[in-house]
Amino acid sequence: MMLLPLGVFLLLSPLVNTKQQCRLKANNLFSDPTFPTSTSLGNSSFPTSTTGNGNPSGSSANSVPTRPPFNYGVDPVRGVNLGGWLVLEPWITPSIFDNTGDDSIVDEFTLGQKRNDDAMRKILENHWDTWITEDDFRQISEAGLNHVRIPVGYWSVPVTSSDTGGSTDVSPYIPGAWPYLLRGLNWAATHNVHVIVDLHGAPGSQNGYDNSGQRTGDPRWAYNPANVSRTIDTLKVIAREIGGMIDVLELLNESAGFLSTQWLDVTRQFWLDAYAAVREAGGNNFKVMIGDAFMGVGNWQNFMKPPSAEGVLMDFHQYQIFSNQELARSFDEHISHTCSMKSTQVNYATNNIWTVMGEWSNAVTDCAKYLNGRGVGIRWEGTRQQDDMHRFGSCDNFTGSYKGFSDDYKAFMRRYFEAQVDIGEAVQGWVYWTWKARLTLISRLLPHFDDYLFVQAEIADDWSYQIGLEGGWIPKNPSDRLYPNICS
Ligand SMILES: *[C@@H]1O[C@H](CO)[C@@H](O)[C@H](O)[C@H]1NC(C)=O
Ligand SMILES: *[C@@H]1O[C@H](CO)[C@@H](O)[C@H](O)[C@H]1NC(C)=O
Ligand SMILES: *[C@@H]1O[C@H](CO)[C@@H](O)[C@H](O)[C@H]1NC(C)=O
Repeated sequence: MMLLPLGVFLLLSPLVNTKQQCRLKANNLFSDPTFPTSTSLGNSSFPTSTTGNGNPSGSSANSVPTRPPFNYGVDPVRGVNLGGWLVLEPWITPSIFDNTGDDSIVDEFTLGQKRNDDAMRKILENHWDTWITEDDFRQISEAGLNHVRIPVGYWSVPVTSSDTGGSTDVSPYIPGAWPYLLRGLNWAATHNVHVIVDLHGAPGSQNGYDNSGQRTGDPRWAYNPANVSRTIDTLKVIAREIGGMIDVLELLNESAGFLSTQWLDVTRQFWLDAYAAVREAGGNNFKVMIGDAFMGVGNWQNFMKPPSAEGVLMDFHQYQIFSNQELARSFDEHISHTCSMKSTQVNYATNNIWTVMGEWSNAVTDCAKYLNGRGVGIRWEGTRQQDDMHRFGSCDNFTGSYKGFSDDYKAFMRRYFEAQVDIGEAVQGWVYWTWKARLTLISRLLPHFDDYLFVQAEIADDWSYQIGLEGGWIPKNPSDRLYPNICS
């Protein structure tokens, strides 16, 4: 099994860029000459003001899209997360981490600490430029999906010292993703896809997971008021700069409310303060999303309901793979567990605020490489030190290329998909995690290399909506049902 050589990425990127530049010109989305149209784009120093850096042509960023507003509460949200794009996750793009040759690089924080050099910045720029392209927005729209959720790290948002009343430092993170977000927002508008922008990484880390930017056993966000106020300052800038281009601003991906009472109290106050701040900075045109902080929606009764707040949605996440107890479930038990959540969610949504299942997937194991973190073992195979090391079986053919997936497994994934969609549509909708978990760009260009080259690189088909469509366990029209009464 070969690792994809870095050279292949770099070799291919000029092709890709030329193609994109043509599209950009054809659509005339970015006549602003300062908008970067090639990989040289993030290379310049980090924008210290948002004017003229990445803002689409002429107008204020707040007036660009022409899409009709989404009818929340009436039409179901059907969406995918654009995971691993503007916030890296080692399991979605393992090659970026492997190619550093440094095992101590486990997240974007350590990446910036150890590799803040030109070569790494080019790799990141190439990734931001190519992981999600306009073609992805087209495919998402064609798949009958109406939303994307886009995770963004605080380090990518261009704040000024007048926004923060002081430092704008984001070190050790490598900034530069913002213009790619703006380009993506325009593609979304062009393809009639609505956008949830989700602040995913906060200073100090809001949960200690690598997907918050910083993997740590000692997250500090809630314990340092400077972290919390910097998070609010960042949200204000997002609201002010792109509040008119997005449909929903999610204030923070899962804050770890279970860590302590203080943490939960800080989170609760943060939702209120951040809500007030983004309304003041960006008006009322977008919805605001909060999360259950791992406490279950039941913990948030009567919270931020009208008239105390307007247009607030609750996000809850559901996975059944991050403990041995969950992994021990049979296929049927995974389905019945899913269905058993329905009444809680429906009751909450009925009596409180609109509720969306913002992250869930078809994965039924934690087998995807680095899913638990780079260098961390796999519960399914009994190699994760922190657990009791029970071995459920081999990971072979549970992840990687779906060519090895059994018919039984694929049939399960279809049922699991439909059961989870059933829950999501019983409330105000769902957003699957994640759109892409494979380097299809290259596999499209070099189809015969598919399995051969990518086994060790970006390939976790069990997680990919895009590949699920191809493999048939995700329907081409998300309303299609093979198991219409799966939860009844
Ligand atoms: C959001 O937070 C949850 C819990 O930390 C995590 O499992 C999930 O991957 C996060 N999402 C992203 C996009 O990082
Ligand atoms: C966040 O908190 C950490 C830990 O207290 C601190 O080192 C860091 O400077 C803070 N960052 C910001 C931007 O406030
Ligand atoms: C995985 O799938 C391949 C291809 O179908 C098959 O040859 C192999 O035996 C499978 N491995 C396991 C452990 O089932």
